[in-house]
Amino acid sequence: MAKKSAKKQKRYDHLTEMARLTRLMKEMYERGQSDLCDVRNSDIHGRGVYASEDIEPETQIIEYVGEYINKEISEERAWEQAAKAEESGEAAVYIFTLDKKWDIDGNVPWNDARLINHSCDPNCEAWIEEDSIFIYAIKPLKKGEEMTFDYGFDIECYEDHPCLCGKDNCVGYIVSQSQWPELTEKLAEKEIKKGA
Ligand SMILES: C[S@@+](CC[C@H](N)C(=O)[O-])C[C@H]1O[C@@H](n2cnc3c(N)ncnc32)[C@H](O)[C@@H]1O
Ligand SMILES: [Zn+2]
Repeated sequence: MAKKSAKKQKRYDHLTEMARLTRLMKEMYERGQSDLCDVRNSDIHGRGVYASEDIEPETQIIEYVGEYINKEISEERAWEQAAKAEESGEAAVYIFTLDKKWDIDGNVPWNDARLINHSCDPNCEAWIEEDSIFIYAIKPLKKGEEMTFDYGFDIECYEDHPCLCGKDNCVGYIVSQSQWPELTEKLAEKEIKKGA
Protein backbone atom coordinates (compact mmCIF):
# COMPACT_ATOMS: atom_id res chain seq x y z
CA MET A 1 0.00 0.00 0.00
CA ALA A 2 2.74 2.41 1.02
CA LYS A 3 4.68 1.46 -2.13
CA LYS A 4 1.70 2.31 -4.37
CA SER A 5 1.15 5.70 -2.83
CA ALA A 6 4.87 6.54 -3.22
CA LYS A 7 4.54 5.73 -6.92
CA LYS A 8 1.42 7.88 -7.15
CA GLN A 9 3.19 10.70 -5.37
CA LYS A 10 6.12 10.47 -7.80
CA ARG A 11 3.74 10.69 -10.77
CA TYR A 12 1.92 13.61 -9.15
CA ASP A 13 5.23 15.45 -8.57
CA HIS A 14 6.34 14.75 -12.13
CA LEU A 15 3.10 16.08 -13.64
CA THR A 16 3.15 19.11 -11.34
CA GLU A 17 6.68 19.90 -12.53
CA MET A 18 5.66 19.38 -16.18
CA ALA A 19 2.74 21.75 -15.69
CA ARG A 20 5.04 24.36 -14.13
CA LEU A 21 7.52 24.08 -17.01
CA THR A 22 4.76 24.27 -19.61
CA ARG A 23 3.38 27.45 -17.99
CA LEU A 24 6.89 28.90 -17.99
CA MET A 25 7.41 28.01 -21.66
CA LYS A 26 4.06 29.55 -22.57
CA GLU A 27 4.98 32.72 -20.68
CA MET A 28 8.38 32.87 -22.41
CA TYR A 29 6.76 32.29 -25.80
CA GLU A 30 4.20 35.05 -25.24
CA ARG A 31 6.89 37.48 -24.09
CA GLY A 32 8.78 36.91 -27.36
CA GLN A 33 5.77 37.82 -29.57
CA SER A 34 3.93 41.09 -30.10
CA ASP A 35 0.66 42.15 -31.72
CA LEU A 36 2.50 45.19 -33.10
CA CYS A 37 4.75 43.21 -35.46
CA ASP A 38 5.06 40.04 -37.50
CA VAL A 39 7.77 38.03 -39.22
CA ARG A 40 8.19 37.55 -42.97
CA ASN A 41 10.82 37.35 -45.69
CA SER A 42 12.96 40.45 -45.97
CA ASP A 43 14.55 42.26 -48.91
CA ILE A 44 17.50 43.05 -46.63
CA HIS A 45 18.31 39.50 -45.51
CA GLY A 46 16.52 36.23 -44.76
CA ARG A 47 13.53 36.91 -42.56
CA GLY A 48 12.73 40.27 -41.00
CA VAL A 49 10.21 41.83 -38.62
CA TYR A 50 7.48 44.17 -39.88
CA ALA A 51 5.14 46.66 -38.21
CA SER A 52 1.62 45.21 -38.25
CA GLU A 53 0.08 48.68 -37.72
CA ASP A 54 1.19 52.32 -37.75
CA ILE A 55 3.44 52.87 -34.74
CA GLU A 56 4.34 56.11 -32.96
CA PRO A 57 7.94 56.89 -31.92
CA GLU A 58 8.86 55.73 -28.40
CA THR A 59 6.35 52.87 -28.54
CA GLN A 60 7.62 49.69 -26.90
CA ILE A 61 7.12 47.12 -29.67
CA ILE A 62 8.55 43.81 -28.51
CA GLU A 63 10.84 42.30 -25.88
CA TYR A 64 14.15 40.72 -26.91
CA VAL A 65 13.94 37.50 -24.91
CA GLY A 66 16.47 34.70 -24.56
CA GLU A 67 18.86 32.90 -22.30
CA TYR A 68 20.73 34.86 -19.62
CA ILE A 69 24.41 33.92 -19.96
CA ASN A 70 27.51 35.13 -18.13
CA LYS A 71 30.46 36.68 -19.99
CA GLU A 72 32.45 33.44 -19.98
CA ILE A 73 29.71 31.51 -21.76
CA SER A 74 29.05 34.51 -23.98
CA GLU A 75 32.67 34.57 -25.13
CA GLU A 76 32.61 30.81 -25.85
CA ARG A 77 29.48 31.27 -27.98
CA ALA A 78 31.00 34.25 -29.80
CA TRP A 79 34.01 32.07 -30.74
CA GLU A 80 31.66 29.30 -31.90
CA GLN A 81 29.83 31.83 -34.07
CA ALA A 82 33.11 33.16 -35.50
CA ALA A 83 34.19 29.60 -36.40
CA LYS A 84 30.82 28.98 -38.03
CA ALA A 85 31.14 32.23 -39.99
CA GLU A 86 34.57 31.19 -41.26
CA GLU A 87 33.20 27.84 -42.41
CA SER A 88 29.95 28.93 -44.03
CA GLY A 89 30.57 32.64 -44.61
CA GLU A 90 27.49 33.35 -42.50
CA ALA A 91 26.61 33.27 -38.85
CA ALA A 92 23.96 35.37 -37.22
CA VAL A 93 24.82 37.10 -33.95
CA TYR A 94 22.09 37.00 -31.35
CA ILE A 95 23.99 37.96 -28.20
CA PHE A 96 23.05 41.27 -26.57
CA THR A 97 25.04 42.91 -23.79
CA LEU A 98 22.87 43.40 -20.71
CA ASP A 99 25.46 44.66 -18.20
CA LYS A 100 29.06 44.07 -17.09
CA LYS A 101 28.35 40.49 -16.03
CA TRP A 102 25.43 39.28 -18.08
CA ASP A 103 24.37 39.00 -21.71
CA ILE A 104 21.19 37.69 -23.34
CA ASP A 105 21.54 35.06 -26.05
CA GLY A 106 18.40 35.59 -28.09
CA ASN A 107 18.90 32.53 -30.26
CA VAL A 108 15.65 30.87 -29.18
CA PRO A 109 12.88 30.22 -31.71
CA TRP A 110 10.18 32.12 -29.80
CA ASN A 111 12.22 35.34 -29.79
CA ASP A 112 10.80 37.13 -32.85
CA ALA A 113 12.97 40.18 -32.17
CA ARG A 114 16.06 38.12 -33.06
CA LEU A 115 15.00 38.46 -36.71
CA ILE A 116 15.16 42.27 -36.79
CA ASN A 117 17.70 43.30 -39.42
CA HIS A 118 20.28 46.10 -39.26
CA SER A 119 19.94 49.39 -41.13
CA CYS A 120 22.15 52.43 -41.62
CA ASP A 121 18.96 54.49 -41.16
CA PRO A 122 17.19 52.52 -38.42
CA ASN A 123 13.65 53.12 -37.19
CA CYS A 124 14.02 51.23 -33.89
CA GLU A 125 16.41 50.93 -30.98
CA ALA A 126 17.03 48.31 -28.29
CA TRP A 127 16.70 49.79 -24.79
CA ILE A 128 17.69 48.04 -21.60
CA GLU A 129 15.19 48.29 -18.75
CA GLU A 130 16.40 46.63 -15.54
CA ASP A 131 17.08 43.02 -16.57
CA SER A 132 15.19 43.10 -19.85
CA ILE A 133 15.75 44.37 -23.37
CA PHE A 134 12.92 45.96 -25.34
CA ILE A 135 12.73 47.18 -28.92
CA TYR A 136 11.30 50.70 -29.20
CA ALA A 137 10.32 52.71 -32.28
CA ILE A 138 12.49 55.81 -32.69
CA LYS A 139 10.61 57.05 -35.77
CA PRO A 140 7.01 56.78 -36.91
CA LEU A 141 6.55 53.37 -38.56
CA LYS A 142 3.97 52.72 -41.24
CA LYS A 143 2.02 49.45 -41.25
CA GLY A 144 4.06 46.92 -43.28
CA GLU A 145 7.38 48.75 -42.85
CA GLU A 146 10.38 46.61 -41.88
CA MET A 147 11.71 47.26 -38.38
CA THR A 148 15.47 47.79 -38.13
CA PHE A 149 18.05 48.91 -35.61
CA ASP A 150 21.76 49.72 -35.55
CA TYR A 151 23.54 46.47 -34.64
CA GLY A 152 26.42 48.57 -33.31
CA PHE A 153 29.04 46.14 -34.67
CA ASP A 154 32.66 47.08 -34.07
CA ILE A 155 34.65 48.26 -37.08
CA GLU A 156 37.37 45.62 -36.55
CA CYS A 157 36.03 42.97 -38.95
CA TYR A 158 33.85 45.30 -41.02
CA GLU A 159 34.58 43.48 -44.29
CA ASP A 160 32.90 40.35 -42.89
CA HIS A 161 29.60 42.23 -42.58
CA PRO A 162 28.53 43.94 -45.82
CA CYS A 163 25.30 45.90 -45.37
CA LEU A 164 22.36 45.43 -47.73
CA CYS A 165 19.94 47.81 -45.99
CA GLY A 166 19.41 49.72 -49.26
CA LYS A 167 19.06 53.11 -47.55
CA ASP A 168 20.36 56.25 -49.32
CA ASN A 169 22.90 56.79 -46.55
CA CYS A 170 24.08 53.14 -46.43
CA VAL A 171 27.81 52.98 -45.65
CA GLY A 172 28.14 49.52 -47.20
CA TYR A 173 29.00 47.68 -44.00
CA ILE A 174 27.26 46.81 -40.75
CA VAL A 175 29.27 49.10 -38.49
CA SER A 176 28.16 51.10 -35.46
CA GLN A 177 27.18 54.64 -36.49
CA SER A 178 29.61 55.93 -33.86
CA GLN A 179 32.47 54.47 -35.96
CA TRP A 180 31.37 55.78 -39.34
CA PRO A 181 34.03 58.54 -39.48
CA GLU A 182 36.72 55.88 -38.97
CA LEU A 183 35.08 53.65 -41.58
CA THR A 184 35.00 56.48 -44.12
CA GLU A 185 38.76 56.97 -43.61
CA LYS A 186 39.46 53.24 -44.02
CA LEU A 187 37.38 53.03 -47.19
CA ALA A 188 39.12 56.12 -48.63
CA GLU A 189 42.56 54.58 -47.89
CA LYS A 190 41.46 51.38 -49.59
CA GLU A 191 40.41 53.32 -52.70
CA ILE A 192 43.78 55.13 -52.79
CA LYS A 193 45.67 51.80 -52.53
CA LYS A 194 43.54 50.35 -55.32
CA GLY A 195 44.32 53.30 -57.58
CA ALA A 196 48.09 53.22 -56.85
C1 LIG B 1 20.16 38.31 -35.99
S1 LIG B 1 20.12 37.91 -37.69
C2 LIG B 1 18.79 38.84 -38.31
C3 LIG B 1 17.76 37.97 -38.93
C4 LIG B 1 18.13 37.39 -40.29
N1 LIG B 1 17.56 38.18 -41.36
C5 LIG B 1 17.64 35.96 -40.40
O1 LIG B 1 16.80 35.64 -41.25
O2 LIG B 1 18.14 35.13 -39.60
C6 LIG B 1 21.54 38.83 -38.11
C7 LIG B 1 22.11 38.47 -39.46
O3 LIG B 1 21.25 38.93 -40.50
C8 LIG B 1 22.02 39.47 -41.56
N2 LIG B 1 21.71 40.89 -41.69
C9 LIG B 1 21.03 41.67 -40.83
N3 LIG B 1 20.97 42.93 -41.27
C10 LIG B 1 21.62 42.95 -42.45
C11 LIG B 1 21.93 43.98 -43.38
N4 LIG B 1 21.54 45.24 -43.20
N5 LIG B 1 22.64 43.64 -44.49
C12 LIG B 1 23.04 42.37 -44.70
N6 LIG B 1 22.81 41.36 -43.85
C13 LIG B 1 22.09 41.65 -42.73
C14 LIG B 1 23.47 39.24 -41.21
O4 LIG B 1 23.89 38.00 -41.76
C15 LIG B 1 23.43 39.17 -39.69
O5 LIG B 1 24.51 38.44 -39.17
ZN1 LIG C 1 23.34 49.93 -44.75
